[in-house]
Amino acid sequence: MKEVNYKDLRFNPFTLFGNEWMLLSAGNGQTGCNTMTISWGHLGCLWGNNDPTAVVYIRQSRYTKKFVDEEERFSLCVMDKSFKKEMLYLGTVSGRDEDKIAKTGLTPVYADGTVYFAEAKLVLVCKKLYAVDMKKEDFISQEPIVQCYPEGDYHTLYVGKIEKILARDDEYLRPGTCPAE
Ligand SMILES: Cc1cc2nc3c(=O)[nH]c(=O)nc-3n(C[C@H](O)[C@H](O)[C@H](O)COP(=O)(O)O)c2cc1C
Repeated sequence: MKEVNYKDLRFNPFTLFGNEWMLLSAGNGQTGCNTMTISWGHLGCLWGNNDPTAVVYIRQSRYTKKFVDEEERFSLCVMDKSFKKEMLYLGTVSGRDEDKIAKTGLTPVYADGTVYFAEAKLVLVCKKLYAVDMKKEDFISQEPIVQCYPEGDYHTLYVGKIEKILARDDEYLRPGTCPAE
C-alpha cells in the first residue's frame, strides 16, 4: 500500500459508498477493535484549508459506535468486490455477538492511530472533528423519519478529517499519478 494525495483520487463517491460499500473500523491493538459495513457517507471539503473530510452515519445501536467514540480516529476501507460476502456478513452480524473479524479472515493492521485491513484496496484514515446525534425535531422533511427511523434509532453523524490515504494500486487514482513513495 502506498500513501497518496487526496487531490490525485478519481472515483465516483456515490457508487463508492452506495454500491461498493466501505468498512468503517475503529479500535486499537490493546483493547480491541470492531468494524461494520457502511453505504451512507460523504466525501468533500470542510474547515481548515478546505480540508479533505469524510462524513459517516452510525446508528446508536451499532457496537462499532463504542469504538469510534472511544478513539480519536476511525478508518474507511474500500474492499475488492471478491469480499462482498464478508462485507455483507460484517454488515449484518454484530461484533457484540461474534468475533466477526476473525470469522472473515481479514487481517487487522494497527497503524496510523487506528485499525484498517491489509486486504483493502483503498484506506482513508480519519481523525474525528465533530459528532452530533440526529434529533427528530431537526428534520425538515418527515420522509426520512418514516422511511428510515420508525423505531427512533437515529444516526450519529461524524465528520472526520482525512489525514492519510493508502492505495493498493492505481484503480482510484488520476491517470498518470504515481503513488507517493
Ligand atoms: C450494505 C450495508 C450498508 C450499511 N450501512 C450502514 C450505515 O451507513 N450506517 C449504519 O449505522 N449501519 C449501516 N449498516 C448496518 C451495519 O453494518 C450493521 O448493523 C452491522 O452489523 C453493525 O455491526 P456492529 O454492531 O458490530 O457495529 C449497513 C449494512 C449493510 C449490509
